[in-house]
Amino acid sequence: MSLSSFLESKLTKRHTAGNLRYLKTEPGLIDFSSNDYLGMARILHDSRLRSGGCGATGSRLLTGNTCFAEELESKIAAFHGSQAALLYNCGYMANCGLISTLAGPGDLILYDTHIHASCHDGIRLSHGYSLPWKHNAVDDLEKKLMHKPPGKHTFVCIESLYSTDGTLAPLLAIAELCERYQAYLIVDEAHAVGVFGENGKGLVAENNLNEKVFAHVVTFGKALGTYGAAVLGSALLKQVLINFSRSFIYTTALPLHNLTAIDAAYSLLPSLNQERMHLRELIAHLNLSQTPIQPFFVSSNSEAHHLSSLCKEMGFDVRALLRPTVLRNQECLRICLHAFNTHEDVESLLQILPRRYA
Ligand SMILES: Cc1ncc(COP(=O)(O)O)c(C=O)c1O
Repeated sequence: MSLSSFLESKLTKRHTAGNLRYLKTEPGLIDFSSNDYLGMARILHDSRLRSGGCGATGSRLLTGNTCFAEELESKIAAFHGSQAALLYNCGYMANCGLISTLAGPGDLILYDTHIHASCHDGIRLSHGYSLPWKHNAVDDLEKKLMHKPPGKHTFVCIESLYSTDGTLAPLLAIAELCERYQAYLIVDEAHAVGVFGENGKGLVAENNLNEKVFAHVVTFGKALGTYGAAVLGSALLKQVLINFSRSFIYTTALPLHNLTAIDAAYSLLPSLNQERMHLRELIAHLNLSQTPIQPFFVSSNSEAHHLSSLCKEMGFDVRALLRPTVLRNQECLRICLHAFNTHEDVESLLQILPRRYA
């Protein structure tokens, strides 16, 4: 059975049993359901809110849903060219909730060895079994796809831009493989959104892959400067997550100020082309990767510590990525470039690391 038919049947079962969950807003009622015990959430008033408050006061499925949140989801989906978007409180919860909901017993999850901890935890929470494939090695992925379980669903988890070493996934090749082997591609765009693609839409949009990516996750705590996340995909996927994704269902929704900040960030994104261009120039200047995450590899944790301290003494905040967060031989200074850094800043940083910069 295709994944879509399977997901539809899950929803139909719920519907038949009379316990299908859906988001609703019910304004004008006297509140005997929220968790706003002291009325504190009401200190800020906004007509867009169901309960006229600051805090969400409950889960999206209870008192925490608002027209504003729903409009924001439509805006985010339209911006990225997706059919639907579902807000999560953060990227960690989005990845956990998405992967654990989708992969059922006997399903296979193939993951790039560099994926984020939140995907690993989503895999652990799922009922599927998982196999790693070598970082960005399309041939290794294909070998694993050749042995995918018959009659079960196979998912492939990647990041479009990897958070540890700043590498870019060969998105087109991976999407093509997933299509060929009928696997479902899940892409974490946490570090690509805002930076890559037209107006910062991300790498899935830039590569025209919305149709080939089953779900992708965008987060708002990085280039968007605020907090939160969304899963992008089909309307069916959204409905399934609303019904079965525990990290969506069993938590208080994002508060108004957070939604407002996300809304403002999306309104601002298209106007930041100068910033994106400057960032690209800085990337070319430092040239340790093709992305704002520039790894300066070192030979040990102690060398990374030493260089990080040296940078601090000279007035630069450069953090080390150490074992066990990264594997042996992957220890590095993780230099993050920003639109507010200058070429002079980069040049001065290079002076601290001259002999290492080959
Ligand atoms: C690749 C990646 N995915 C997901 C997350 C989690 O996002 P959030 O910080 O919004 O929970 C992070 C953040 O560290 C990340 O780097």
